[in-house]
Amino acid sequence: MEYHDPKRKSNFVGKILMAAALTAVCIIMLKQSPTFGTPSQFSRHEEGVTHVLVTGGAGYIGSHAALRLLKESYRVTIVDNLSRGNIGAVKVLQELFPEPGRLQFIYADLGDAKAVNKIFSENAFDAVIHFAAVAYVGESTLDPLKYYHNITSNTLVVLEAMAAHGVNTLIYSSTCATYGEPEKMPITEETPQASKLVPINPYGKAKKMAEDIILDFSKNSDMAVMILRYFNVIGSDPEGRLGEAPRPELREHGRISGACFDAARGIMPGLKVKGTDYNTHDGTCIRDYIDVTDLVDAHVKALQKAQPSKVGIYNVGTGKGRSVKEFVEACKKATGVDIKVDYLPRRPGDYAEVFSDPTKIRRELNWTAQHTDLEESLKTAWRWQKAHRDGYGAS
Ligand SMILES: NC(=O)c1ccc[n+]([C@@H]2O[C@H](COP(=O)([O-])OP(=O)(O)OC[C@H]3O[C@@H](n4cnc5c(N)ncnc54)[C@H](O)[C@@H]3O)[C@@H](O)[C@H]2O)c1
Ligand SMILES: *[C@@H]1O[C@H](CO)[C@@H](O)[C@H](O)[C@H]1NC(C)=O
Ligand SMILES: *[C@@H]1O[C@H](CO)[C@@H](O)[C@H](O)[C@H]1NC(C)=O
Ligand SMILES: *[C@@H]1O[C@H](CO)[C@@H](O)[C@H](O)[C@H]1NC(C)=O
Repeated sequence: MEYHDPKRKSNFVGKILMAAALTAVCIIMLKQSPTFGTPSQFSRHEEGVTHVLVTGGAGYIGSHAALRLLKESYRVTIVDNLSRGNIGAVKVLQELFPEPGRLQFIYADLGDAKAVNKIFSENAFDAVIHFAAVAYVGESTLDPLKYYHNITSNTLVVLEAMAAHGVNTLIYSSTCATYGEPEKMPITEETPQASKLVPINPYGKAKKMAEDIILDFSKNSDMAVMILRYFNVIGSDPEGRLGEAPRPELREHGRISGACFDAARGIMPGLKVKGTDYNTHDGTCIRDYIDVTDLVDAHVKALQKAQPSKVGIYNVGTGKGRSVKEFVEACKKATGVDIKVDYLPRRPGDYAEVFSDPTKIRRELNWTAQHTDLEESLKTAWRWQKAHRDGYGAS
């Protein structure tokens, strides 16, 4: 007698459904893979189109740079492992530039040389702008290896891949922290960098080492190299499409603009100003605040003026120093909030006074900072912060 076990039957149906679902998932994954079907526009060079690899393009500065490059008709590939960046920023860019061959995002870790090499063999890059890094001075004094790994060692990986695949233009994100605390202000490109006499934190050292690797390599190569040493970056996209959204867990190491906004939003009870006994006019540290819109403009100019076998090293700043107290006043005005300020002892690794002499970049790249009104830059950033209470998370 035939005997149907209802349990077995439902098992069988379940298995069929499972197989169908798995097949569907495979098809979807294949379809989304850039290597499926016709070779992608990213994989071949195209006359008149410059394809730029933007590492760290999900981050604060990298996303603003990608937006500008896309507006100027560059082809952009972002590589980021989202350890600190935001996929939300990439989504904004993808929505603005949905056409094929404009923007692609690749999730990868630059510490993974094999993955990086694969990316370089599957894509035809004309230039690399290398932003990806960890970038908090305070954190670097607590966890220096993270800095030497994610900055120095990863830059070597990128450079090796560029050399192996014949990609000949590199714009490198460096920092005024490579100068340590020099005796003379303002800082020119001739100001001696880190030495035994100049105190310097691991972040600055890791960047300086990466610069040295690039400079040594470029002596025997025809690579076009531009090293940009930024001062303190603030602001965000004037049209409000992008902003700065660092990880909440980095708050304690955070930058002053983020700390000001957190205080203004009531996320933090107030703003902690660390150090009031520095040898400056009001006792607080002096910094040179450069608006991200200007900074990104410097990258585009550097990219356009980069020449084979040449290295350009440029400070990117306004040339004007402002004290933390001045900054806090501007932030109060920009946010309209009377932020509570706590004055605390110094934080290790901070320098009293740092500001640039931007003469060289003006002379050679015809670049000068345009957005030099602190309050205006902070107003722009504040607008984005207010409209995005959870960063790129929700709203
Ligand atoms: N913000 C400033 O004031 C300032 C000043 C001077 C220099 N810089 C330099 O500018 C660059 C960008 O800084 P930012 O402020 O936009 O920082 P950010 O943290 O917002 O962006 C860095 C991005 O790099 C990515 N990244 C880090 N390690 C990676 C890895 N191993 N593989 C793949 N992706 C990785 C992160 O996910 C993040 O998206 C950095 O090189 C930084 O040192 C920044
Ligand atoms: C990002 O890269 C670092 C190495 O540089 C790695 O240790 C970390 O786990 C990666 N994070 C993610 C989310 O992949
Ligand atoms: C690189 O940085 C990421 C955070 O951005 C961290 O998770 C990782 O541990 C770092 N890698 C090393 C080897 O320290
Ligand atoms: C320099 O920049 C200014 C302003 O952007 C522009 O008007 C001028 O033509 C540029 N000069 C040169 C030599 O490119």
